[in-house]
This record gives sequence, C-alpha cells and structure tokens, in this order.
Amino acid sequence: MITVRSFEEVRAASSGRIGLVPTMGALHDGHLRLLRTARAESDTVVVSVFVNPLQFGPDDDLDRYPRDLARDQGLAMEAGADILFAPEVVDMYPTDSHTHLTISKLTDNFEGAHRPGHFEGVALVVAKLLIGIRPTRAYFGRKDAQQLSVIRRLAIDLSLPVEIIGVSTVREPDGLALSSRNQFLGPDQRRAATALSRGLLAAASAVEDGERHGPHLEEIVAEEAGTEALLELEYVALADAATVQPLGELTTDAFLAVAARVGETRLIDNVAFSVDSDTVTVDRGELLSGPSVLEEA
Ligand code: PAF
Repeated sequence: MITVRSFEEVRAASSGRIGLVPTMGALHDGHLRLLRTARAESDTVVVSVFVNPLQFGPDDDLDRYPRDLARDQGLAMEAGADILFAPEVVDMYPTDSHTHLTISKLTDNFEGAHRPGHFEGVALVVAKLLIGIRPTRAYFGRKDAQQLSVIRRLAIDLSLPVEIIGVSTVREPDGLALSSRNQFLGPDQRRAATALSRGLLAAASAVEDGERHGPHLEEIVAEEAGTEALLELEYVALADAATVQPLGELTTDAFLAVAARVGETRLIDNVAFSVDSDTVTVDRGELLSGPSVLEEA
C-alpha cells in the first residue's frame, strides 16, 4: 500500500475497477467492512483519510476529532487497501472555494436541520473525491443514512459515472453502532448510549411483526431512549430513503433514524427498510464477530 497526497498520484497508481472508501480516518471495524467489501469487488482499492473542516460547524468537534495516520495506515493495509490518499487541507482546498453544492430538500431535515452547513461540506468534498479519483464504485456506511441518500442524489444530479454502495452498520456485541466518536464516551455514557440501538432494534422487530405506522415506530425508540437520563434525544424519525422527508407509513424504502447527545458527544444511528410491495426487509446492521480493532489496539 502506498500513501499519497494528490489526486494525480492516486490516478497514476490506479487501474481497472477502482473502489473508493472515503473516510475521515480513526478507522474502526465499520470502515474495515467498507474496505473489505471494496477489496472483493475492485482491482484497485483507494481509501481516503481526510478530516474535512468544511463539514464541521463552529460548535462541532473538529479540534478533538481523533487523528492517527500511522494507525490508519496499518489497518487500511491489513484490510486490503492499495492506496491511502491522505491530503492536507491545503491539498484538498488549494484556493478558497467559490463553488458550493446544496442538495435541496434532502438536507432540510434531521442532520441537515441540526448541523447547518454540514451537508454542503460533505457534498463538496465527496464531489471532489469522486471527480478527482474517478472510482467505479464508492462505498459509504449506512449508519450515516441521510448522508448516503444525499450522496446518491449528488451522483445522480452531477451525472457522475460511479455506483454508490451502502454497506451495513457494524455494531458492538451490545448493539452500539461503531463510530469514531464512541471513544469519547465514559463508561456510564457508553452504557446509556446502548438505549439508542435497543430502541431501534425493538422497532425493527415491530416492523417484522407487521407495524407500519411511523409515529408508533418512533415512539418505540423514544420510549427506550427515555429510560436513560444521560441521553438527550434530538430527533427520532421515519424517513423516505430517496427524498429524506418524514414518512407517516412504511410504504417505501426508508430508514428510522435517531440522534442524541450523551454529554459532549453526539451520536446517530438507524435501521433501514427495503420495501417491495408487501414485503419489508430490515437492515439492522451486523454485530461484530470477534474483538474490535479498538480492543486490539
Ligand atoms: O462519513 C464520513 O466519514 C464523511 O462524512 C465523508 C463521507 C468521508 C466525507 O468527509
């Protein structure tokens, strides 16, 4: 595996079917799953590691966001990456950007409403990565469900010749969705945070038992989150996966998403539903089998 800083170097070292895994580093087993999926489907696997300042608001955690390139290099290499693209901010944004990308409507609610400007920052950096690297496929975690919908729309609207692949969330054995931000949680906060996945997984079971009413599903999650005093719920919502608008009944592909604060740390999670006439398939994510790379570190 080589580590490079420019798009030109990435393109010079890539050939055949190129699989791109965009990340902000602090790699965990969720990222490794993206990388292994890309490895199985690509001739060249590129992983980008770039903490994108444009997607952090003034009150977000840009300064404390974990960074450890040497560790990321070791994990990416083990997971089969060929090229690690690690630009500095000046490489990615050599000049002040006068180009702004707004994906309207899909960013009005949920994360878009709670993190003004966030998706403009994500859209710009992802567009630059897709245009600069020209991957055949690009892989994103389903944990960021709204981000995945936004990126799918971006690729369609800009006619980018790339297939956007969503990969299931990886969960700790107690259900907590893996996130680079989990490492900020103290033991009590960590325990409280599992109420989010408990609520979502209970709602997923309710769907399998025939429940289709959005407010009922949201209530299941809110009630479970309400059992933990350390959790401050920001939203829980059933949303149409294509339009990211609130959905009253589960009649189309959708996700049930939740966001909450635990102390200083903001967590998001979801379960996803694929609807094919009367049949609903649930993606709950997958539990880690074996020790996580964080435990091994
Ligand atoms: O999901 C992330 O890690 C980031 O939002 C992404 C897609 C790498 C863009 O910076």
